[in-house]
Amino acid sequence: MNRRIGILISGRGSNMMALVERADGYDVALVASDKPDAPGLAWAKSRGIATFALSPKGIGKAGYEAQIDAALREAGVEIIALAGYMRLLSDDFVARWRGRIVNIHPSLLPRYKGLDTHARAIAAGDAVAGCSVHVVTEELDGGAVLGQAEVPIEPGDTPEILAARVLAAEHALYPRVLKEFVANERPNPA
Ligand code: GAR
Repeated sequence: MNRRIGILISGRGSNMMALVERADGYDVALVASDKPDAPGLAWAKSRGIATFALSPKGIGKAGYEAQIDAALREAGVEIIALAGYMRLLSDDFVARWRGRIVNIHPSLLPRYKGLDTHARAIAAGDAVAGCSVHVVTEELDGGAVLGQAEVPIEPGDTPEILAARVLAAEHALYPRVLKEFVANERPNPA
């Protein structure tokens, strides 16, 4: 039976779209965002997917996360996929979903955790860049890597040009890795 996933986004949502369009072994039960005007939300709605939007402004992190958590559980979500979700989840939230949150990060982890990955890879003179899908733990971009894809860094690349090349690789990688992950992941007995 298909697993039910929830996708958290903060903006454009192109990885979320790739996960929806190439869904295999999972159903997207909810797309949620910390940015009510995230363009990806409108796209999900237009596809008939349930959405939830809530800004943490004025609520505080704990209250915000409690509502996101409740929305995910109400939608029957078993596994969370972060797709351009640009907010750090609290240790408490991560613990409640232990081993059931995955993320896509635009670097070849463990290199370039955090932000500005493409500029840092170019500045370092790397010949190769890429993206990683990993399990989310309390350590930023530090959980087990489930899959990676590499792309070349070409002479003259700007961070924007490299980001576009990596993004295309992300769209191919994420649905493939999520398919494998949901097939292997067992419901948490706790
Ligand atoms: C993607 O490149 C994703 O890897 C990155 O943000 C972009 C979101 O694009 N995520 C991170 O940097 C997380 N630290 P999208 O909204 O079009 O999927």
